Amino acid sequence: MLGRVNHIAIAVPDLAAATASYRDVLGARVSARQALPEHGVTVVFVELPNTKVELLEPLGEGSPIAAFLEKSPAGGMHHICYEVDDILAARDRLVAGGARVLGDGAPKTGAHGKPVLFLHPKDFFGTLIELEQV
Ligand code: CO
Repeated sequence: MLGRVNHIAIAVPDLAAATASYRDVLGARVSARQALPEHGVTVVFVELPNTKVELLEPLGEGSPIAAFLEKSPAGGMHHICYEVDDILAARDRLVAGGARVLGDGAPKTGAHGKPVLFLHPKDFFGTLIELEQV
């Protein structure tokens, strides 16, 4: 069911500072900022030869990463995104197996304009999993 790692996401308190650090200190290519109000985050993607790193900053009230940054004010690894061919088939299989899908269970449009879902971290060894249909 799982395909490639699409990206690894890191929550950061200051996206401009994190962008500068990845670009200027680590020498990586970093995309333009993208506000995703439906997800409560602003993101950039660090573009690597084999995958991407998504840097996330809270956007607006009630951002889903606000509580994460309260616990880890310096930032930290937030989720890993795996690619799937058919997100609805993947969801149905996971739910049938007892896994919990966050939100109402319906895919939302992610940062790449493709449908995404998030799976409860308690069902996957403390790691929040994002699935993206590619
Ligand atoms: Co993501």
